[in-house]
Amino acid sequence: MYNQLISNKLKLAVVGLGYVGLPLALEFAKKMSVIGFDINERNLKMLRNSQDPSEELGPETFENRNIIFTSDPEELKKASFYIVAVPTPIDKYNTPDLKPLLSATLSVAKVLKKGDYVIYESTVYPGCTEEECVPLLESVSGLKFIEDFKVGYSPERINPGDAEHSLQKTIKIVSGCDDESLDIIAKVYETVVEAGVHRAPGMKVAEAAKIIENTQRDVNIALMNELSILFNRMGINTYDVINAAATKWNFVAYTPGLVGGHCIGVDPYYMVHKASELKYHPQMIASGRFVNDSMGGYIAKQTVKRMLAGNQSTTNQTGIQSPSKSRVLIMGVTYKENVSDIRNSKVADIVYELLSYRTEVDVIDPKADPAYVDHEYGIKMVDKPTGKYNAIIMAVPHKEFRSMTQDDFKALLVPHGLVVDIRGVFRNIIKDLDYWSL
Ligand SMILES: NC(=O)c1ccc[n+]([C@@H]2O[C@H](COP(=O)([O-])OP(=O)(O)OC[C@H]3O[C@@H](n4cnc5c(N)ncnc54)[C@H](O)[C@@H]3O)[C@@H](O)[C@H]2O)c1
Repeated sequence: MYNQLISNKLKLAVVGLGYVGLPLALEFAKKMSVIGFDINERNLKMLRNSQDPSEELGPETFENRNIIFTSDPEELKKASFYIVAVPTPIDKYNTPDLKPLLSATLSVAKVLKKGDYVIYESTVYPGCTEEECVPLLESVSGLKFIEDFKVGYSPERINPGDAEHSLQKTIKIVSGCDDESLDIIAKVYETVVEAGVHRAPGMKVAEAAKIIENTQRDVNIALMNELSILFNRMGINTYDVINAAATKWNFVAYTPGLVGGHCIGVDPYYMVHKASELKYHPQMIASGRFVNDSMGGYIAKQTVKRMLAGNQSTTNQTGIQSPSKSRVLIMGVTYKENVSDIRNSKVADIVYELLSYRTEVDVIDPKADPAYVDHEYGIKMVDKPTGKYNAIIMAVPHKEFRSMTQDDFKALLVPHGLVVDIRGVFRNIIKDLDYWSL
């Protein structure tokens, strides 16, 4: 399989060309013949014009690549090594929504041939690949797992907006369904991952490794968020405490903040789901989710409270009379800094909570697509700030916002207005405005 891929006798297909699938497909396309398969025709059109719909990759990344972009199952049929990288979201009850994964599996199952390989990259709970995907591949193709086709799991570790930890430079976990497949899968990935691969002893181990990478971050950020609620009551700044504690060799400096997006805020629910099936109720993981999911509402309530109380540090206190007579500017709506991705953005929770007080809210973000924000959250963004605001919430400090000075904030605020700086990036810059951070 490996030699035939490298010599272009066989083709590799990537199913799902999003944040994970596209860079992977383009990287493989430097070394072998690749079929980029997706169901989103709008995105496929952009990809054929060397445009990345998620704006992570420049047009130069598409140059001299042996790749076609298609939604045609007849083209998909021409591949022998399939990599599935479709979304694995949660539904409104926070339980895994495997519809995209199973539908992509069905597309592959319909064209699967003897000797083919199917590798999953989508984040799932331990056991999902073998319990959900393999039976579908077998029943639709009529082929036998291991005997006729092989399956592997190799989780992705890319971090959108982070050019340093790219696919090539980050060790990749690979796993297979037997020794032979593990060896071949490792060799195939080694052609594109300069940092090398880690051969996990089984698919379940590889699935679990991915889930705990994100669950560990989620729980640790939740701890910092809980501490920030406590430190707020104590009148001390969390970032000052973290800076002090971080001088100890074994303190890990996690910071508080909103946990949104497609991974950290979602993956732990996959683990919770599997744990429930095993009749175990994971307290730590669920608590982490509870704390992090509550932060948007907490930040909005703190904003209202502080606007009502007025700036305590001036003699001329200017508290608002009612939240319904106040205006708040929210800067940033994407799920994190310097990306355009708005999926599962917790900024929406801040907006909804403020709106429940009938506060007027303006949202700006140079990265986010206003039409998409409206479609996903029913939030109508504004092009630019207008008039004076009682408070500014620096929700997502994109690089476009980071150069703001205290005077820039003052120009947007009523006298002694409030700056809520969720990530604490302006804490040494804002001296004579009402200032609060997590
Ligand atoms: N984005 C990240 O930073 C990241 C990092 C590590 C792992 N992951 C995981 O990787 C997986 C993919 O995430 P993503 O962020 O790339 O998603 P994405 O939404 O950016 O892209 C998924 C792509 O799959 C396509 N798709 C959906 N259903 C399909 C189907 N049935 N057949 C073919 N194509 C289909 C969509 O049109 C889209 O282009 C998820 O499981 C995610 O949890 C994501």
